[in-house]
Amino acid sequence: MQATASAHPNVALIKYWGKQDVATNLPAVGSLSLTLGGLTTRTSVSFESDLEQDELVINGVPDAGALSRVTRCLDMLREHAGVKDFARVNTSNDFPTGAGLASSASGYAALVKAAAAALHIDIATEDLDYIARIGSGSAPRSLHAGIVLLEKTSGLTGTRCHSVAIPDDWPLSVVVAVTSRQPKDVSSTGGMESSRKTSSAYKGWVDTHPADLEAGLGFVRQRDFAALADISEHSCLKMHAVAMSSMPPLVYWSGATLACMQRIRELRKSGVPVFFTIDAGPQVKAVCMPEAVSKVHKALAEVPGVIDVLDCYLGNGAWVES
Ligand code: DP6
Repeated sequence: MQATASAHPNVALIKYWGKQDVATNLPAVGSLSLTLGGLTTRTSVSFESDLEQDELVINGVPDAGALSRVTRCLDMLREHAGVKDFARVNTSNDFPTGAGLASSASGYAALVKAAAAALHIDIATEDLDYIARIGSGSAPRSLHAGIVLLEKTSGLTGTRCHSVAIPDDWPLSVVVAVTSRQPKDVSSTGGMESSRKTSSAYKGWVDTHPADLEAGLGFVRQRDFAALADISEHSCLKMHAVAMSSMPPLVYWSGATLACMQRIRELRKSGVPVFFTIDAGPQVKAVCMPEAVSKVHKALAEVPGVIDVLDCYLGNGAWVES
């Protein structure tokens, strides 16, 4: 009862920020994301009868902090399979962990994919999406390829997640400017709850979000890069405005983050098809057309404070390796 699966992280263009239900990570709003080929989490899960509890090792180091969430996901899969054995989980990322590069999304996507394979269960996509969501609200998106919609529904689980364009349909690229390798001070979970409770901008965010999501989806369907650029930067900055207006204020950016944003805006003004998006961390993701990658990469590498630049492309949903 052993399997290994891999998954890419993802980055949202129309962001998720805020939970309607914390226990099940039911988001207050839907989201539209890109699955980031080029960055990978690889996870092995082995169910063993002699273990007294689940064990989790992340990048070679035992991690007790994340264990209870991992166990919650594994419990749901164990129940599905009618199995009681605990599991050894070994996961590693080929990119910085916990620093705003969505390692929790790829982590939980790879976890549920590997565990379901190890247990030999035939599980509906919607159920696996839901179990990944229990781990992290953005994790279901990493189970799917290319450009992915996570929408709110009135169904049992409250969300539905699916690919709206596979990588070949519209092969966008993403150049990631890494400005720090430090794990962030305030987690997304903590930040979102603080924003929900304390930001006067939170209600406006939730009320205006469906129109942003609908617009973003429409621009993807029309392959309208310029319009997608505008609505994506709008959603990103609105999310950060909500975070910044929380109490205590949440500022996820560094000086280098802002310098990258300015550089990307200059490039776009000069005719380069590129726009930025930033999650709950200081890294900047520059979404661009494939022909602009080398120009964008070079420009971001020259920004003071940028310590690494990673080229990504649209990737597949999580897959079983063995
Ligand atoms: C800023 O999915 O990491 O990246 O549900 O608490 O695990 P939890 O949070 P997480 O939050 C992602 C927030 C974001 C925006 C986004 O990816 O949509």
